Amino acid sequence: MANALITGASSGIGLSTARRLIGRGQRVLLLSYDEPELLQACSELGSGAVPVLCDLTLPDQVDGLWQRLEEQHGPIEILINNAGVGYHAEVAEIDLAVVRRLFEVNFFAAASLCAQAMRVMKARRRGHILNLTSAAARRSLPFIGAYGASKAALHALTQSLRLEASGTGVTVCEVLPISVRTPFFDRAGYRPRGFTQTPDQVAEQILRCLDLGQAERTTHWPTALGFALDALLPNWVAKLLAWRYRRPRP
Ligand SMILES: NC(=O)c1ccc[n+]([C@@H]2O[C@H](COP(=O)([O-])OP(=O)(O)OC[C@H]3O[C@@H](n4cnc5c(N)ncnc54)[C@H](OP(=O)(O)O)[C@@H]3O)[C@@H](O)[C@H]2O)c1
Repeated sequence: MANALITGASSGIGLSTARRLIGRGQRVLLLSYDEPELLQACSELGSGAVPVLCDLTLPDQVDGLWQRLEEQHGPIEILINNAGVGYHAEVAEIDLAVVRRLFEVNFFAAASLCAQAMRVMKARRRGHILNLTSAAARRSLPFIGAYGASKAALHALTQSLRLEASGTGVTVCEVLPISVRTPFFDRAGYRPRGFTQTPDQVAEQILRCLDLGQAERTTHWPTALGFALDALLPNWVAKLLAWRYRRPRP
């Protein structure tokens, strides 16, 4: 049975994606760090689910992880870097200690796993890497500057990795969701505004992106339109957003 590794798979988008991959006959290694939640998720998913306990904020636990997992479970064909944390704060007020932890999960752990997986997959001439970023990777908004920066960093790394993977037999994909109804917002301490999606809807898009070997996939078509407008008319879009998010006069 082929293995897939999904980081942050104990809840939300990662859990929905694991459920769908297991439904296709894949064995899924679910990585998270909250042990009771992870074990609960795995027992719910049944025999195709394997728990991997790891704190992605700790580089010691991430270094060499791919090799340790392959020694234990056999070759891994799919890596989905999904784990992520949010942070809601004005840039003028950010706590850099929080931002550094956020970057460890959202960027450094994902970058390390991309590198570890790529070295092995390149040698085997097969494999799939998919990184979950966010619409905020391409257009950040007020109060999510640090989060947007971490996702923009992962977006840039994914673009380079994809080009470096060309001709190696390895595909590198990226999915850029917008607001999704998961525990993410409770953990980050804020509420999404406007349109939201379910984790299942995003999981479906993740599998489609993998199946098609697509470079990038948004999960809701107006997002792609927004990116196009932003690229064509950046000053106009900046003015529009400044108006939309203007502070009420004191
Ligand atoms: N929800 C949205 O609106 C939205 C929109 C765009 C992009 N995204 C991205 O989608 C991805 C999944 O988010 P979600 O909405 O499904 O959120 P979620 O339900 O909060 O899931 C986040 C997952 O990451 C894991 N995680 C967090 N810190 C970790 C650490 N230090 N070590 C190991 N695992 C850790 C969590 O595991 P524990 O339970 O063990 O902490 C959890 O399984 C994230 O990358 C997020 O940035 C989400």
